[in-house]
Amino acid sequence: MTIDSKSVTPLFEPWRLNRADLSNRMAVAPMTRISATPAGVPTDTMVRYYERFVQGGFGLVITEGIYTDQAYSQGYTNQPGLSNLDQAKGWRPVVHATHAAGGKIVAQLMHAGALSQANRYRSETAGPSAVQPKGQQMVFYRGDGPYRLPRAMSEQEIVEAIDGFAQAAVFAVEVAGFDGVEIHGANGYLLDQFLTDYTNFRTDGWGGNIAGRLRLSAEVAKAVRRAIGPAVAVGLRISQGKVNDFTHKWAEAEAGAATVFGTLGAVGLDYIHITEFEAWKPAFSESGSSLVKLARESNPTLTIVANGNLHDPDRAKQVLRDGADMVALGRGALANPQWPQRVKKGQELDKFDSALLSPLATIKPSEVVL
Ligand SMILES: Cc1cc2nc3c(=O)[nH]c(=O)nc-3n(C[C@H](O)[C@H](O)[C@H](O)COP(=O)(O)O)c2cc1C
Repeated sequence: MTIDSKSVTPLFEPWRLNRADLSNRMAVAPMTRISATPAGVPTDTMVRYYERFVQGGFGLVITEGIYTDQAYSQGYTNQPGLSNLDQAKGWRPVVHATHAAGGKIVAQLMHAGALSQANRYRSETAGPSAVQPKGQQMVFYRGDGPYRLPRAMSEQEIVEAIDGFAQAAVFAVEVAGFDGVEIHGANGYLLDQFLTDYTNFRTDGWGGNIAGRLRLSAEVAKAVRRAIGPAVAVGLRISQGKVNDFTHKWAEAEAGAATVFGTLGAVGLDYIHITEFEAWKPAFSESGSSLVKLARESNPTLTIVANGNLHDPDRAKQVLRDGADMVALGRGALANPQWPQRVKKGQELDKFDSALLSPLATIKPSEVVL
């Protein structure tokens, strides 16, 4: 695919996320690569891997999902954490390398909940209700067979999970030096398990209608903001689809989206990160608005990051026209760590080859050389 570089200029305009000045509108989407030490400390391989995207022109890197506490948050063996000082210090070289290359970097804070496949701190899983997750564990993250049946979290455990996000955010900003944090509210993990009608049957204040089911995400956002103060970027990622239920749609459709985006617009976030399989497509019906457009209608000023099959620059520009301020690329960035530079120069883009993530999703030697 050859690209007309003149037609992609909006992507190359600067943007500001709270106090972080970004050189352009292109971000690397969060991608778990299970390449930390068994104790959850980032490795030199990860430093080189993240640095490469900034050298390739991405203005912002969003890290892989990082676990937040030493209770139920860890999802995978060799997933990095932000749950103690060693892990937090281990992120410093990653942050330093991306800054030195002229980029900014945000830490994605993730609680796996019922989708946890391995956790060095706990032998069981926990979620909103004792509902076995759909689907099978992910083999490329060392999973095998069905997910375990989670235990329903107590009120106290929910409070501890919120505190875990807040404490991890403090580690991210004050120890590691990240430019911000992104709360992982998407893709089937804990916060999305609370939001989802078929995994949350709670009858206390953490369940019920869509507003009740969204409450945990809102409380986490508020707690993180309180913990790190007003001057650091805080985002929240949201989706309909899940790693274990790809085509899920919110039953409340556009009215639900209005509740979700209206609520998230009032909890102190700088940005909302929306991920859909094809981010430009109508969210609920054949002809309605995309989720990006619905989020923009509810939030005239919040930054909106869009993700989902946007590696074709025309698609990326289309979501900017729909109301997004930035685009995030996942597989397109893996295939083309120099995507922004290539697009600017009108060069060919490589297609993503899933062999890169096989047999495990670990960072491959080819991904740490320029
Ligand atoms: C290997 C891999 C790991 C991923 N890990 C995460 C993750 O840790 N957190 C997250 O929010 N999304 C994760 N995702 C989803 C991506 O951020 C993105 O939403 C998805 O790849 C779709 O975007 P794309 O079409 O640009 O690839 C992952 C995707 C891939 C391919």
